[in-house]
Amino acid sequence: MVKNMDMESASIMSIFTEYTEQLDGSKGVIILTLSILIFMSYLTAALKPGLRLIPGPIMARLTYLYRPFRIAKGDAPSFYMSLHERYGPIVRTSPNTVDISDPAALPIIYGISSKFVKSTFYNAFSPVFEGETMPSMFTIRDPVAHQALRRPVAQKFSMSSIKSLEPFADECTSIFLDAMRDLQGQKVDLGVWLQWYAFDVIGAITFQRRFGFMEKREDVMGMIGGLELGLKYAGIVGQVPALHPWLMGNSWVAKLLTAQKFVEIADPLRTMVNITQECIDDYDKTRDETHGHRPDFLAWLRSEESKGKPLSNRDMINHLSNNLLAGSDTTAISLRAILYFLVRNKSVYKRAQQEVDMADGDGKLSPMITYGECLELPYLLVKHHSNLYSPQHKSNKI
Ligand code: HEM
Repeated sequence: MVKNMDMESASIMSIFTEYTEQLDGSKGVIILTLSILIFMSYLTAALKPGLRLIPGPIMARLTYLYRPFRIAKGDAPSFYMSLHERYGPIVRTSPNTVDISDPAALPIIYGISSKFVKSTFYNAFSPVFEGETMPSMFTIRDPVAHQALRRPVAQKFSMSSIKSLEPFADECTSIFLDAMRDLQGQKVDLGVWLQWYAFDVIGAITFQRRFGFMEKREDVMGMIGGLELGLKYAGIVGQVPALHPWLMGNSWVAKLLTAQKFVEIADPLRTMVNITQECIDDYDKTRDETHGHRPDFLAWLRSEESKGKPLSNRDMINHLSNNLLAGSDTTAISLRAILYFLVRNKSVYKRAQQEVDMADGDGKLSPMITYGECLELPYLLVKHHSNLYSPQHKSNKI
């Protein structure tokens, strides 16, 4: 491999020399110097100690554009799988990245005592608040800082606490079912409806405020479209994280890009942060009058404050906006995958329906089936859909 590269570099050098000889003196020297510098930087990247012997396509070791190109093209998962078939379980997919497909590596990289930390890929997913990047529980890289950020909300993510949020989901399920009955006989884009449903559930459990996607039957405040664009941006730019501070990670550039009228560029991270601040302000305005013992995240965090566990406005915004960013799309994609595979597999659909009908006939189900009741439906329990279509990736680690 290295031998091949030496031959390639010699031929590239001779092309440059020939070209620069045709230019007049000083221009030629400048171009030659720049070319050599660029070429040397590629070569240094390609021959990085520790990585140079890891197999992979030659372009991947030479250029940081290899990975963003694959993401932009949309075929990254299947493409990387084909690379593993060709090169083995460890493949070099950029000058500083390797892709690993061996399950034995999972506990080493992701295990609780792993020395690997999240890579700078996550920076592109961090919102900016009051002019400063605000790493969330999802994006923060330092394990100690992650623990500190997580501590005040950990209890709220416990199963018993999450179960107290079920009525919010039931309310949305009821609206969803009414809409489906209303649209009976018409063509319905279930993918869109499930995303509206997921977003309304997340709004309800986070602030006790449904955004009304399902009632209005539209993308309220362009949140979903914005998030989709934002995820595309972060997915691509996250492959070359050094670019982010020069793009949407820079508040001036972000302002300029979103203000111009030629191409619509959303800034979903800022939108989510602004919506979150609005919801907090609304809550605080009516405080103590109507709130009772609300179990939503916002009310719970405020009640924890009153028990002597203060949380800064910044951390409050951070946790609540992160629910919108981390919880909506993932839930929507999971629901889509579950329903897609269910309707595509008639025998599975039939068996699941039989199980529900039987439990219902035995009087074991509430009108809105609860989580507890679901646990008694072993066939319906969905545990493996993410193996078929995963809404999540494995974290990038260094
Ligand atoms: C089926 C739906 C969901 C899936 C598949 C999913 C998947 C994931 C995955 C894979 C991670 C780890 C990401 C990484 O480290 O790269 C994660 C983290 C996280 N998710 Fe979810 N998620 C779902 C729903 C939700 C919901 C509804 C919420 C909030 C209401 C949420 C909040 C979070 C938070 C706060 C983290 C960071 C946790 C930490 O690092 O301590 N997720 N999720």
